Amino acid sequence: MQLTKEEQEFLDGKHGNAAKKSMEILKALGEIYGAEKLIPVTSVQVAGVSYHNLGDAGLEYLEELAKDGKIRVRTTLNPAGMDLKDWKKLGISDEFAEKQLKVISAFEKLGIEPTATCTPYLIGNKPNIGDHISWSESSAVCYANSVLGAKTNREGGPSALASAITGKTPMYGMHLDKERHAQITVNVSAAIKTLDDFSALGYAIGKKIGNKIPYIIGIKEADTDQLKIFSASIATYGGTALFHIEGITPGKTIIPEEKTETAQKDIDDAKKALNDDCEIDFVAIGCPHASLNELKQISKMLERKHVKITTWISTARKTLDEAEKLGITKIIEDSGASLAPDTCMAVAPLKGRFICMATNSAKACFYARGSNGFKTRFGSTEQCIEAAITGTW
Ligand code: F3S
Repeated sequence: MQLTKEEQEFLDGKHGNAAKKSMEILKALGEIYGAEKLIPVTSVQVAGVSYHNLGDAGLEYLEELAKDGKIRVRTTLNPAGMDLKDWKKLGISDEFAEKQLKVISAFEKLGIEPTATCTPYLIGNKPNIGDHISWSESSAVCYANSVLGAKTNREGGPSALASAITGKTPMYGMHLDKERHAQITVNVSAAIKTLDDFSALGYAIGKKIGNKIPYIIGIKEADTDQLKIFSASIATYGGTALFHIEGITPGKTIIPEEKTETAQKDIDDAKKALNDDCEIDFVAIGCPHASLNELKQISKMLERKHVKITTWISTARKTLDEAEKLGITKIIEDSGASLAPDTCMAVAPLKGRFICMATNSAKACFYARGSNGFKTRFGSTEQCIEAAITGTW
C-alpha cells in the first residue's frame, strides 16, 4: 500500500507513539484487504466503550494511547456500561463505575466526545452523502451506508480509533463504489408497518441472505426510527454493512438478477423465533438508542401509569436533555421506568440480574440471549410497555 510522506512519518513515530501504533493498524488492515492507499475520513464512531467488554486490558490500551495521542477528526463514542452520571439508579456498582469512568477519561484525553450512543447521527454526528467515514457500531454503520449514503466499512473499535488519531482509513470495501452494488433482490410481500415489523424483517432477511447486499422492493415507506431498527437487526443477523430499499435509500445500484422473497410467514416465523416461553422480569426499549420521537410515544403510553417490573429506556444523553425540556422524562420516571442514557441492555453488566427480557428489538434479543443468557419476549413497543405496566406478557 502506497503511503504519503506524512503517513510514513506517522509510521516512523515522528508524531508520537499513539499515531505510530494507529498507522501500523491501518497499514496492516489495508494490506490484508488489498487497499492501494489511505483516504481521509470526516467522521469516526468508536465502539468498544463499555468496561464490561473492554476489561483491564482494554483500559490499559486506551490509557497508553491517551499518553500522547490526539484525534484529528470529529469522533463520537458508542454506549458505555452505565449511565455516566447516575449509575446507581441502574443498579451498577461503584467498583464498575470507577473503571468505566477511567475508560471515558482516556477517550476524553484523546479529544473524543463522550456521547456514549449508538445513534450518533441523531445527535449531530451525521455525515453527508458520499462522505468517507470510519464507524464501528454495526447498526450505525449499516444506517450510515444505507440511509445517509456515507461510506464506511464495519470497523472494529481499534481500527476506528486508529482512524480518529490519524484521520485516515484504508480505501477498500464500502469505500469503493463498485463494491456497493446490491447482490440480491428481496421482494417483501409481507405488511411491514411497526418498529417490531421492521426489526423482524431485518432478522428474516439477514438470516436468509447473510452478508450479501440486498436490493429490497415492496416497502412503501419507512421513517428514521424504522430504518434505524431495521439497520440494527439486518446487520446483526446477516452481517451486511449496506442495503438498498427501492424509492427510499439514496444509493445507486445495479438491480441484481438473483431474487428471493420475504413473505408474511417469514415475519411471523421471525417473531416466533424471538419469543421464548418465559415470565418477563425486565423490559428494555431503545436498541438502537431511542429517538426523541420514540420517547414522546413511550411517555404517552406511560402517562399516569406505573410499571410493575424493571423497565429501561436507553437513549443518548443529548436526546434525553431535549426530552427533559419537553417534560417527557418526568412522565417516564414518574411511572417508575428508568431512563438509561449512555448505556443499553447489551453493554451494561446485567448477567444474572434478570431471566426474561421483553423488547421490540431483534438485536437486543440477540445480545440478551448470547451475552447475558436471558430468555426473550419480542413484540411491539406498545406490547412491551403494556407488559411493563401489567407485569405479564
Ligand atoms: Fe445500541 Fe446497544 Fe442496541 S449499542 S444497537 S442499544 S445493543
